[in-house]
Amino acid sequence: MNLSEEEKVELIAAAKTVTAKAYAPYSGFRVGAAVLTEMGNIFVGCNVENSSYGMTICAERTAIVSAVTKEGGDLMRIRAIAIAPVTFCSPCGACRQFIYEFGADAVVIFPGRERIKEVLARELLPEGFSWSQNFARD
Ligand code: THU
Repeated sequence: MNLSEEEKVELIAAAKTVTAKAYAPYSGFRVGAAVLTEMGNIFVGCNVENSSYGMTICAERTAIVSAVTKEGGDLMRIRAIAIAPVTFCSPCGACRQFIYEFGADAVVIFPGRERIKEVLARELLPEGFSWSQNFARD
């Protein structure tokens, strides 16, 4: 978890700021996410809901899609991702797999009930699916 305190503060602030852009008329739960890539860029995303509820996209995934769009899917790797607001918001299962794809060792920073949590993507998603690991698995 070689992430400096300054990087963490900046990432959490970026995630908080982008909650204002969320489209969450159905749940009223505005979420923001900020991805720090290995290249050193920060990309943000917010949740985008839909009247067909199941089509809703989480903040983590919109941030990651933005990072891929800019840096390219073959190169973009996630160093860290922060999720706001500061109420309990642990990444959903789909987002865990999405984060894992681009950084199994990424630091995932999200608010817990009593403190900001920091865990690795691979800890949030033990035995996450990946082609290479799947073929190597016993
Ligand atoms: N949501 C996220 O954006 N990220 C999460 O990690 C959990 C849930 C969104 C989806 C939906 O718009 C709202 O929060 C309520 O589930």
